[in-house]
Amino acid sequence: MADKQRSLVLIKPDAVRREIAGTIISVYEDNGLKIVAMKMMKLDREFAEEHYAEHKGKSFFENLIRTITSSELIAMVLEGEDAIERIRALNGKSDPAKAAEGTIRNRFALNGTENSVHASDCPVSAEREIAHWFPELK
Ligand code: CDP
Ligand code: MG
Repeated sequence: MADKQRSLVLIKPDAVRREIAGTIISVYEDNGLKIVAMKMMKLDREFAEEHYAEHKGKSFFENLIRTITSSELIAMVLEGEDAIERIRALNGKSDPAKAAEGTIRNRFALNGTENSVHASDCPVSAEREIAHWFPELK
């Protein structure tokens, strides 16, 4: 039997503003992923830079921080078997031009930065991100 995992998932500001958060959340729930924590936040620069620390110094970093802090987003922890890999498959590649047909980013992303969703990319990242976003979770 596959491992039960947790992932941090963000519905980014571009998706919240277009009122498609519910549609996106339904994709996860319809695929057997359970919401175990959820909140709405508008990020300050410091929090956003810590979340995306691995990308500091890259050409797209400023644009990424500007867009992720632009308005409210929804943060959640999803749980399920092989959650990390399955959620990233549901999301599709970060560049919507490369995201497979029917994936969330293929359906909804505006461009390579405002691409509607974030999800943890491995168990170590998931642990770090969940502790950063939901310190109250055990
Ligand atoms: O989000 P994901 O893990 O799929 O991609 P990433 O490579 O970790 O990049 C994080 C985020 O930075 C992406 O989701 C995009 O919003 C943004 N990005 C960008 O604006 N331009 C790029 N060339 C690569 C990433
Ligand atoms: Mg990433």
